[in-house]
Amino acid sequence: MHVIITGGAGFIGSNLAEKMLTMGYTVTIVDNFEPFYPKHIKLQNIAAFYKHPNLYFKEIDILNVADLYTQLTHTYDAIIHLAAKAGVRASIQNPVGFQEINVKGTQNLLEFAKFKQINQFIFASSSSVYGINDKFPWCEEDAVLHPISPYASTKVSCELLGHVYSHLYRIRFIALRFFTVYGPKQRPDLAIHAFSKKIIQQQPIQLFGNGSTERDYTYVSDIVDGILASLHYQKSWYEVINLGNCHTVSLSTMLATLENTLCQKAIVEYLPEQPGDVPKTFANIQKAQQLLNYQPKVAFEEGIQLFKNWLLQTTTA
Ligand SMILES: NC(=O)c1ccc[n+]([C@@H]2O[C@H](COP(=O)([O-])OP(=O)(O)OC[C@H]3O[C@@H](n4cnc5c(N)ncnc54)[C@H](O)[C@@H]3O)[C@@H](O)[C@H]2O)c1
Repeated sequence: MHVIITGGAGFIGSNLAEKMLTMGYTVTIVDNFEPFYPKHIKLQNIAAFYKHPNLYFKEIDILNVADLYTQLTHTYDAIIHLAAKAGVRASIQNPVGFQEINVKGTQNLLEFAKFKQINQFIFASSSSVYGINDKFPWCEEDAVLHPISPYASTKVSCELLGHVYSHLYRIRFIALRFFTVYGPKQRPDLAIHAFSKKIIQQQPIQLFGNGSTERDYTYVSDIVDGILASLHYQKSWYEVINLGNCHTVSLSTMLATLENTLCQKAIVEYLPEQPGDVPKTFANIQKAQQLLNYQPKVAFEEGIQLFKNWLLQTTTA
């Protein structure tokens, strides 16, 4: 199978590409090294497999339609679309940029899939689509009409766009709603990575709220397994599926786990809660279990230990 992974130099995409290459897939990565975080980190993400004979790397912006059509000339079996501007807070600073890359970029790729007759399209959606929803755990059937950040609204829009293409053109569209992903190569802006570095360097960390907010943290290899299962799902033309861990961890517990694992205390600066952040995320994963045989395997403490091993390796390398 030859699969396009957009955003394949990023956190989730590079973990996915590496695993797929070891499994015998041919992979084309499409990534433009968008400068939200530095290019050298993304180059490091793909360094271990960049020269793999079954890897094609294309430095393409998904907004550049001409490049998509002229540079992606093979026959492809599926697109795993992970490229996006990510981050709730960043989206409040730059809502138009988020709309442009996330929504228009996704539509460009759906058009490309239509043109090239690629009929399996996996889309990276997000738990943020649930917005404020007090009914836990969150189910795919819950309404997603009240997102509270531009980022979340772009993900809802893309899920809707996907339905159009699945209905009109029989492109199977599977939106996977990822719940706070962590693990090796995690984006440097995300809390676990940012906090860990600051704890090690004994710099103050900024903690928004009183520590009671909760997240359903999902280890990246579990997300990768869910994506791979969705690649072979063929029972319907359109699905929206949660990929979470089905356990919540409070911000205070997350911080205490980091302190224990890193054997150092954090210096904490408490700040007010941030607009756009939801108080809690919690995935119902029954649908993923039924349709994808998805079963998260890495518990939070174990995942943090694995993350620490990676972080220490990369910072001392
Ligand atoms: N990390 C999480 O916790 C999480 C949670 C929910 C959803 N998601 C979604 O999963 C996907 C991957 O997230 P990630 O954490 O790996 O982010 P990431 O920023 O590490 O990876 C995204 C990649 O997309 C690339 N990209 C951005 N704009 C592009 C463009 N115009 N053209 C080509 N490439 C472009 C970037 O250069 C980057 O390498 C995103 O769609 C994100 O919204 C992530």
